[in-house]
Amino acid sequence: MESITDHMQQDHVLIDGYAERAATAAETAAWSDLEREAGEFLRRLRRHIEMEEVVLFPAFEERTGMVQAGPSVQMRMEHEQMQPILEQMQTAVAAHDGAGYRQASHALLEILVPHNQKEEQMMYPMLDQAVGDDASALLTQVRAMAV
Ligand SMILES: [Fe+2]
Repeated sequence: MESITDHMQQDHVLIDGYAERAATAAETAAWSDLEREAGEFLRRLRRHIEMEEVVLFPAFEERTGMVQAGPSVQMRMEHEQMQPILEQMQTAVAAHDGAGYRQASHALLEILVPHNQKEEQMMYPMLDQAVGDDASALLTQVRAMAV
């Protein structure tokens, strides 16, 4: 049985690939590549966050009672911090503003890199632990949301 940790970690790797290709496109002023790669990056990262906030975190909070404080509360807060930066990246892509994209993307990675590490090392393993055999049903819901 696939664990939540494995599945969500693989999604991080996939999303990171789009971020790297978008960064290269921004550096080389390859606008159609930037539109495609950054567009996919933003779409997939937003959906990834939604999978966590709509399906996985509520399941964790329901089973552990950690609703007011705890790892999922911290992760949601960090998602909120990312939102305006994602908007800036989207605006920069539309304006073909490579410097603006790189700046916003740098700001995002300062939050996203440690965020993903915390999820992979703490949040997802705690989720797997908390939901037990329900992991596969939750992953079915998560897969149905994939873009
Ligand atoms: Fe997250």
